[in-house]
Amino acid sequence: MTRRRQIYEGKAKILYEGPEPGTLIQYFKDDATAFDATKRGTINGKGVINNRISEHVFTRLTHIGIPTHFIRRLNMREQLVRQVEIIPLEVIVRNVAAGSICKRLGLEEGEPLPHTLIEYCLKDDALHDPLVTEEHIACFGWATNEEMQDISAMAIRVNDFMAGMFAAINIRLVDFKIEFGRIWDGDFSRVILADEISPDGCRLWDMATGEKLDKDRFRRDLGGEEEAYQEVAKRLGLLQDDGTPGEVLDLTAHRKLRGKSEKPKK
Ligand code: TMP
Repeated sequence: MTRRRQIYEGKAKILYEGPEPGTLIQYFKDDATAFDATKRGTINGKGVINNRISEHVFTRLTHIGIPTHFIRRLNMREQLVRQVEIIPLEVIVRNVAAGSICKRLGLEEGEPLPHTLIEYCLKDDALHDPLVTEEHIACFGWATNEEMQDISAMAIRVNDFMAGMFAAINIRLVDFKIEFGRIWDGDFSRVILADEISPDGCRLWDMATGEKLDKDRFRRDLGGEEEAYQEVAKRLGLLQDDGTPGEVLDLTAHRKLRGKSEKPKK
């Protein structure tokens, strides 16, 4: 195997130098952490599933016009992505009260919020990712006001799309975290969706039973995290009961086929 230059190792992923300038390889690990990595563990097969789920979601988001860093999946645990300058914010979108907002505001877990809420946290484990306002973001220059407009508009579109996608498979999208990055073209930059979207950074509840199908199983020692991640992949059509990859409709293939049949007949 050829040696690749490692650019960065995070808690759940490793970034390697990509084959062309401006690209990176994103490797998904099975490592799971919680509470700023004070709790550590492994969820067997998580990297493989998150790579696949993230590919699925990012591909579909691209189809509805959301710009993302995703280029293509390379193998079971790796995907090729565009290199971005990460904006140091965790963008959290909430539809239903759960997790830190319940503690902070005394809400009951499971209470639907009056409307979708976006929160911003500074990406800094040493400071425990503190909640920050748009005033802080502008004041300290983490992102410009223009970038924040794009970020909040994209976050809402991602939420609308994902809430529908999960509702169709009987999963309630309670909340999720996304990250954005800047790409530069000369002196101009634009913001695109980066990182990953997977059960690591989403709260996903079964609609009928309320069962948690996400990393809260690990955070709260509920057990069954492997099965929960597999269940999400299965319902999305990405994994079959026997563990082999699922036959989800490949929209690109579909378009190619349609293109063929639409050619004028001689
Ligand atoms: P919270 O309720 O703990 O603030 O989490 C909100 C959402 O963000 C939840 O879906 C889990 C996700 N999340 C991350 O992806 N990374 C983190 O470090 C934290 C704290 C939450």
